[in-house]
Amino acid sequence: MSEANNGAAGIGAADIAGADAADETVIRIEDLRKTFGDNEVLRGIDLDVRRGEVVVILGPSGSGKSTLLRCVNLLEKPTGGRIFFEDTEITAKKTDINKVRAKVGMVFQNFNLFPHLTAKKNVMLAQQKVLHRNKEEAARIAEEQLEKVGLGERIDYRPSELSGGQQQRVAIARALAMDPHVMLFDEATSALDPELVRDVLSVMKELARGGMTMIVVTHEMGFARDVADRVIFMDGGHIVEQGTPEEVFDHPTSDRTKDFLGHIS
Ligand SMILES: Nc1ncnc2c1ncn2[C@@H]1O[C@H](COP(=O)(O)OP(=O)(O)OP(=O)(O)O)[C@@H](O)[C@H]1O
Ligand SMILES: [Mg+2]
Repeated sequence: MSEANNGAAGIGAADIAGADAADETVIRIEDLRKTFGDNEVLRGIDLDVRRGEVVVILGPSGSGKSTLLRCVNLLEKPTGGRIFFEDTEITAKKTDINKVRAKVGMVFQNFNLFPHLTAKKNVMLAQQKVLHRNKEEAARIAEEQLEKVGLGERIDYRPSELSGGQQQRVAIARALAMDPHVMLFDEATSALDPELVRDVLSVMKELARGGMTMIVVTHEMGFARDVADRVIFMDGGHIVEQGTPEEVFDHPTSDRTKDFLGHIS
């Protein structure tokens, strides 16, 4: 992940590393189903994500995007199908959920920071509790990660003393401090004032260019076009269409995709 901060040289190196590992599947989702009561929210999702790939998921409200992400780090228990993360079937009964979660970073719309703790302490906490890092190491890594997201000057501020965009960057630093193998973003910029969105998106872009494997639910079409290796359009619990940003945005084949894109652009 150190490449993320090394500017152009780091990006080149990461690109090469990404190309080498291009065939390595990090997440494999097979016929994933999730039902709440009699509401079938995911209706058979098949999806492979390769190491270093950035997958952007689009779709109307209620189409199952958040549920899909939440199933990937087992915040929701799938009703059917299987999910593999690296070499482990995480949907198997014997899997240690906490071990999986530690490797899958998740950033939500609401940052969920502890209000009484400084940015640095917020980033230290899970490192100490989950990874059992000692205080000094957790502090060093917290400072490093906060520096990376552009908050080196704000490490001792509490959430109430930070803008929404800064709080979201603390949340990203907190996730990155756990050395995740994959990052999931669920509308990470949707709650932010427009002028704050840019800083958060640029942190996400930097991360993508550094080779992080990412699944991103967003309404930011510019981001999707620039950064996504693959765009997925979901509707009604199905993947309706997927392809490169050019394919999905410029030449959508499904009427549902066309209709959706027509409404948002
Ligand atoms: N915990 C839950 N209990 C019951 N129903 C749920 C639960 N979570 C989600 N749902 C239902 O599942 C469906 C899909 O929700 P989900 O949050 O995955 O959609 P989404 O695509 O993320 O939508 P949005 O763009 O509004 O965030 C919705 O009908 C929702 O009401
Ligand atoms: Mg959602």
